[in-house]
Amino acid sequence: MCGIVGYAGAPDLDASALDVILDGLRRMEYRGYDSAGVALLTPEGLVARKRSGKLARLLQSLHDDPLPRSNTGIGHTRWATHGAPTDANAHPHLAAAGRIALVHNGIIENFAALRAQLRDEAGIEFVSETDTEVAAHLLAQAHAACGDLSRAMQDVARRLEGAFTLLAVHADVPDTVVGARRNSPLVVGLGEGANFLGSDVAAFIGHTRRAVELGQDQVVTITPSTVTITDFHGNTAPGREYAVDWDAAAAEKGGFPNFMAKEINEQPRAVADTLRGRTDGEGHLTLDELRIDESVLRGINKIVVVACGTAAYAGMVAKYAIEHWCRIPVEVELAHEFRYRDPVVDSRTLVVAISQSGETMDTIMAVRHAREQGSRVIAICNTRGSTIPRESDAALYTHAGPEIAVASTKAFLAQITACYLLGLYLAQLRGNKYHDEIAAILADLRTMPGAIQKVLEGLEQVRTMARWMADTRSVLFLGRHVGFPVAMEGALKLKELAYIHAEGFAAGELKHGPIALIEPGQPVFVIVPSPRGKDSLHNKVVSSIQEINARGARTIVIAEDGDDEVLPFASEVIRIPQVPTLMAPLVSVVPLQVFACELATAKGLDVDQPRNLAKSVTVE
Ligand code: M6R
Repeated sequence: MCGIVGYAGAPDLDASALDVILDGLRRMEYRGYDSAGVALLTPEGLVARKRSGKLARLLQSLHDDPLPRSNTGIGHTRWATHGAPTDANAHPHLAAAGRIALVHNGIIENFAALRAQLRDEAGIEFVSETDTEVAAHLLAQAHAACGDLSRAMQDVARRLEGAFTLLAVHADVPDTVVGARRNSPLVVGLGEGANFLGSDVAAFIGHTRRAVELGQDQVVTITPSTVTITDFHGNTAPGREYAVDWDAAAAEKGGFPNFMAKEINEQPRAVADTLRGRTDGEGHLTLDELRIDESVLRGINKIVVVACGTAAYAGMVAKYAIEHWCRIPVEVELAHEFRYRDPVVDSRTLVVAISQSGETMDTIMAVRHAREQGSRVIAICNTRGSTIPRESDAALYTHAGPEIAVASTKAFLAQITACYLLGLYLAQLRGNKYHDEIAAILADLRTMPGAIQKVLEGLEQVRTMARWMADTRSVLFLGRHVGFPVAMEGALKLKELAYIHAEGFAAGELKHGPIALIEPGQPVFVIVPSPRGKDSLHNKVVSSIQEINARGARTIVIAEDGDDEVLPFASEVIRIPQVPTLMAPLVSVVPLQVFACELATAKGLDVDQPRNLAKSVTVE
């Protein structure tokens, strides 16, 4: 959950290590913002500065009391696990009398035993409560013993259990940053006369788009002109170079007040880009990335979606479509619950792991468990080279571009789109649908970017309402069928951004208990299905609106253009375009995202960095 950056540049380059690292930390801050720190190798030795709180506090300190110029260093932005977010617990952690500095992302599970050993056997006095500090002292011991920083890092990595990315510099080893990774992300950036390390490519995207993907259990050493990759035993290991297909502008706010607003606005493009290039000249779906034998896919008898948070809601939406199109049962399981309940999965189960970041530890563990049971795993992921697609049998990438705001928005729409492509592909392969039926659904999907754009252009009413409702203490969301996961997603957005009690219910469940929550003035969003659909649930949802309206609720109804039956019972009507039933989540969720973003802004909250959260949850 922390963000880390490393840089080694030739001394004659204009760029200073500090500027490069701070630029990287600014882009990494979405990963955690409890504290920030840097360490630099300078002619005067190793210097470090760290501050609790957001990066701005560190920047202020560096402004007030500048550090000497440097061409090599590391930086860190923290999401606290062990120890409160204080200056002392902030990274980097120092060892070897201040000659080594080390930063860490992840959790070192055996840190308590190592800490006791270092204290009892080497008399080390710890100055923080973190698990990380043991790694700094172990590195100092290992370096003192072998005199080689890369070998020392290999020794340390072999002794640690859990998840970690480590970066370190040593005052005696100029122009060099050494890193190690296990179960936690680290990518290399290849520059001209400079090389970079980062938790993801955003750390160095302002400098290079050439990246190298590292494998599990690898140590990497960068200097301005070399990149050396080994396993934890010093054997040379391969790294896979790839070109990042987005640029620095994609990771900037681009004139929007915050990343979330920008990313909401990018949703038409996220859907269009996810659909692009996935059919052949005859209109057949060709998901080339799905390197799973077609006979295996024809033989599956169950699909289990594993995911967390918003990604799980995307899976819940997809369940309706895939079951309808393919007639295969689909279960959607929160990834952290999956492996601990001994799920019934086998070689005929297809597991679909959905994750924006590809680094969610709960989902990684679910993927591993599924593969151990003999299931094939397809990852639906937005981050190329991340752990989940790397550990899956195949990956279907969403092309939403970098999602930086902690609240997921454009990734949600891209995940639904990718799941739909997967569902249609399975229907094509298994003969559940004729070619022209699939072509018609794909044609509908291709109209969705335009429909989403239309919603985005008509949201002033939602913004005004959100500002009026800044003091609201509780909001309920109701939906049915594909509107049910949308209701839960709307509630999640409001909880995480505005810290307001919010709950999403299946509208049909209302009468089984939740209706007791309705009291005069209670705001309730209701996502109304289209009245046009066959077997439409429209009338039943309108009945639910009547029931809560009769009990004094303030009903905020999301209904399609032309649906006037809701008017008598609605305090507010938010209009969405007429789209096919299964596509409706792609438009109906947009007002809910904007509502949460605007309400949180009206409360003066930091929309991109809500309290206690981090973008990638890399701990279980
Ligand atoms: O990176 P992932 O898609 O695996 O992340 C899963 C959840 O942590 C994520 O969707 C989270 O719920 C978001 N903050 C929701 O906005």
